[in-house]
Amino acid sequence: MAEQGFTPPTSEWYRPTADMVKQANVPDYDAVYALARQDPQAFWAKRAAELEWYKTWDQVLDDSNKPFYKWFVGGKTNMALNALDRHVTTWRRNKLAIIWEGEDGEKVTLSYWRLWQEVNKFANVLRGMGVSKGDRVTIYMGRVPEIAIAMLACAKIGAPHSVVYGGFSEQALASRIEDAQSKVVITCDGAWLRGKIVPLKVTVDEAVTRSPVVETVIVVKRTCQEIQMEAGRDYWYHDLMALPFAKPNAETEVMDAEDPLFILYTSGTTGKPKGVLHTHGGYQVYTSTTLEWAFDIKEEDRWWCAADPGWITGHSYIVYAPLILGATSIIYEGAPTYPYPDRWWKIVADYGVTILYTAPTAIRGLMRFGEAWPRRHDLSSLRLLGSVGEPINPEAWRWYHRVIGEERCPIIDTWWQTETGGFMITPLPSVALKPGSATRPFPGIEVDIVDDDGAPVGANEDGNLVIKSPWPSMIRTVYGDDERFISQYWEKYRDQGWYLAGDTARRDDDGYLWVIGRNDDVLKVSGYRLGTAEVESGLVSHSAVAESAVIGVPDELRGNKIFAYCILVEGAEGSDALEAELKAHVRHEVGPIAAPAQIEFVDNLPKTRSGKIMRRVLKAQALGQPLGDLSTLED
Ligand code: PRX
Repeated sequence: MAEQGFTPPTSEWYRPTADMVKQANVPDYDAVYALARQDPQAFWAKRAAELEWYKTWDQVLDDSNKPFYKWFVGGKTNMALNALDRHVTTWRRNKLAIIWEGEDGEKVTLSYWRLWQEVNKFANVLRGMGVSKGDRVTIYMGRVPEIAIAMLACAKIGAPHSVVYGGFSEQALASRIEDAQSKVVITCDGAWLRGKIVPLKVTVDEAVTRSPVVETVIVVKRTCQEIQMEAGRDYWYHDLMALPFAKPNAETEVMDAEDPLFILYTSGTTGKPKGVLHTHGGYQVYTSTTLEWAFDIKEEDRWWCAADPGWITGHSYIVYAPLILGATSIIYEGAPTYPYPDRWWKIVADYGVTILYTAPTAIRGLMRFGEAWPRRHDLSSLRLLGSVGEPINPEAWRWYHRVIGEERCPIIDTWWQTETGGFMITPLPSVALKPGSATRPFPGIEVDIVDDDGAPVGANEDGNLVIKSPWPSMIRTVYGDDERFISQYWEKYRDQGWYLAGDTARRDDDGYLWVIGRNDDVLKVSGYRLGTAEVESGLVSHSAVAESAVIGVPDELRGNKIFAYCILVEGAEGSDALEAELKAHVRHEVGPIAAPAQIEFVDNLPKTRSGKIMRRVLKAQALGQPLGDLSTLED
């Protein structure tokens, strides 16, 4: 069952101006789409040739062992070669790579030259601490410049990073450290959020107790409160960076195109998060192409992707793709509303941001404060806006377009996933828009909407979104679990060899695509991806809870909110106090984003005869809708 249910206004068009089309990096979408379709491998080879390789590939695509596709086979490269090394030998060495602003107003700018040096120094630090090619490094940091430095340094030495979002709890962090078997964790003493300190190092200390594989913790000083530093295990980043071995020159590891660049854990249909694996070669080609074309990146742009580096959006479009393109990327540490609801608009005006990319939930959140806040600032530098993470409801789209974009800026609504690495369905600035539709597939991408048997559904009918042919930045496997990779994405349409996205979508009469929402046990809450099973296992880890079921119900601000149903153990009594305690428990066990909005205590749960919880029934009930087909219900 799809999560969201707005009715799309499929006839409302926003057409690009002639000037916008003329200056666009891709002025004619149809022509480029057709070209890519004709010969996808030649198309991607041409894109790959824009980048630098130590050795060119022998084969563009190896599909001899489906679904374990390989791209640019035999090619030798490194993400750091393209994101940094190649820029410092040109005039770009003096261009700003990163502009950072702390929530407290502190500012840092890093030119390509300076960033390159910092990355080299930290690469030497990591090597000096015994990290070598293939070792996994866990990064659990706030939004500080050092997170980009740490990621790039890992890439440079060929150590796959696993960034864990700083909002996750120690249990979530511990299980990710454990799964990746990271001996090194990089963190901060704390992060600033809404004027308060998020105590990152305390969480790391607890996670490391639960997951004893960790030998070294490197700590960036940001918030300066008192923290515990364990001798022989914990080191300050600034101390290490001051050591003689932290030289500003470091060799870049020559990587195979298919060597892992990073693991990024994301939620799936079971409680255990999946480590989505991406590689150096295909990922750099695809992320840089998509950013350059969909957001029309020009040399003089100031690009601001307001996501967190801890999510795929931040990996691909704060750190890697912008740097490959030699762009200037902006990072802001804190909350959009701190100290006032105009913080973002002030940042746009202060730095002359030209392109802003954010999530519908953030737009809806800022919309609540009214137009006066953005109107106070000069937003005339903006030329494009972007949206990601969940379907954007037309009201939010129109507000974003009218108030922030001043009716001048096209909205690039990008549909993609952690697994896809980069944008899959998105308009280019030359494409006519409809509010709420991600429009058309990116050149080189073949999507369809099909029923459970794989037959295409008709116009305006809901079906499963599938991707019908491979693309360079596709997930390579679930780290350490090839079986799960196959069963999750490739099993359902095994005969056809299609990738199952897990989303419900429809296509309108104009061929425009509308992604409605997830159709599996994954929830999108404020754009964050969570598995119902993760929240449920958080609940049952409390001694009073015997069993639980979690559903998402539509919420105006957050897209979805979490409703939980709990069966208590013998002797436990449901009460307001217990509800509050359980919410706090989930915050602590899983993370604040997973806390249920409401918990109901029940005596039983609707199940199929095989014992599977029928969340569909709970959801219909919660929404006061007809319960539908109950023939498989046990009782
Ligand atoms: O349901 C879709 C939704 O987000 C899911 C992927 O989540 P995640 O891996 O966390 O990646 C989010 C950032 C790329 C998808 O399966 N989604 C993402 N973007 C959109 C979207 N739904 C509708 N429209 C979008 N633009």
